[in-house]
Amino acid sequence: MHSFITVEDVDVAWHTVLMRVDLNVPIREGKVTDTTRIARVAPTIADLVKRRAKVVILSHLGRPKGKRAPEYSLAPVAPALADALGQEVTFLPDCIGPDVEQAITAAKPGEVFLLENVRFHAGEEKGDMEFARSLAKLGEIFVSDAFSSSHRAHASITGLAELMPAYAGRLMGDEISALESALESPKRPTAALVGGAKISSKIAVLENLITKMDRVIIGGGMANTFLLAKGIEVGKSLIEADMVETAARIMAKAGETNCEVLLPSDVVVAESFAANAPHVTVPVDQVSAEGMILDVGPRTIEELKASLGTLSTLLWNGPLGAFELEPFGNGTFAVARAAADLVSDGKLVAVAGGGDTVAALNAAGVADRFTYVSTAGGAFLEWLEGRELPGVAALLKNQASARKNGQLEEVR
Ligand code: 3PG
Ligand code: MG
Repeated sequence: MHSFITVEDVDVAWHTVLMRVDLNVPIREGKVTDTTRIARVAPTIADLVKRRAKVVILSHLGRPKGKRAPEYSLAPVAPALADALGQEVTFLPDCIGPDVEQAITAAKPGEVFLLENVRFHAGEEKGDMEFARSLAKLGEIFVSDAFSSSHRAHASITGLAELMPAYAGRLMGDEISALESALESPKRPTAALVGGAKISSKIAVLENLITKMDRVIIGGGMANTFLLAKGIEVGKSLIEADMVETAARIMAKAGETNCEVLLPSDVVVAESFAANAPHVTVPVDQVSAEGMILDVGPRTIEELKASLGTLSTLLWNGPLGAFELEPFGNGTFAVARAAADLVSDGKLVAVAGGGDTVAALNAAGVADRFTYVSTAGGAFLEWLEGRELPGVAALLKNQASARKNGQLEEVR
């Protein structure tokens, strides 16, 4: 179990808190189109403000590759953050340098600054310590609240955790406890539902999950390669031919670790990948040569609902079908609703995250009824792979050595 000292445990009044968050949010025509990540870090920021800290916020946006690029400016995020906080947020057009330092020094406790994209500087992604030192000048206390970026060993993540007294923000703490409750110390029986298009991007995830979960439910495009590995013809469905052996190996290994693997027993098949394409539902071994599997069928939905009914913990990553095309989201939506109902009845802990997952659960209208929905994409998957996330490791290391040197007192 990870035990962090969180920023709630330190006195921040009259101090300048440098906070790394993940405000890598979608922006269209200068407006933030999904404010989830903003809403989820706002409580940590609001708490710091209430406790009379000056708050200086760092984030990346997109992948500008070390150069200034107006389309990756964080400027449009400042008004959205101000809305979430209900107070003014001052945007500064750089994240290091004398002008930035002066503006922050001149500010009063309770003021909030959002600095320009850290990835406009090449030192960020290189994890350059010189760049990290320029950032570290901006505050006295570092708060790491960017779980969804903590798979990156970048200057504002691991570098700052090396240089400054470092504490976890609320979101960091919540994300990690949710993952631990689903993966490291779950109430059994447990299952992971893993969907999405490609098995190649999830092999390491599956390999780890079959050693930890009692059951793995495989859906989405990636199920096709597993079906093929079982000798089932899938017509023109999306497959990864070079992954068939891997799929077979994963199923064999699951047998050894006593992890049950569930695949669709019936499927919805169309001849084109388009909304409302003419479609039929067939048993999984009767997909025509021209057919393309776009969703799980009603029998599979019932089987999965029954399976969920016997679980205590569910970890959900990826959709069961082409949910973005009507009506091929039916499987994903029906199973997501069933999971949400079990959570509402207090019978299931359901934790979801990673890439398309949140979009799928939002489309199903159940994201707020899951026990926890992670803000992380890549970081969530790397955690599921069983990998140590550099940003989390750097924070733990900082706190362990500070504890040893008597610089930190665990307040709780
Ligand atoms: C994300 O959106 O997954 C994070 O912000 C990380 O972004 P990155 O993959 O560009 O590092
Ligand atoms: Mg990513």
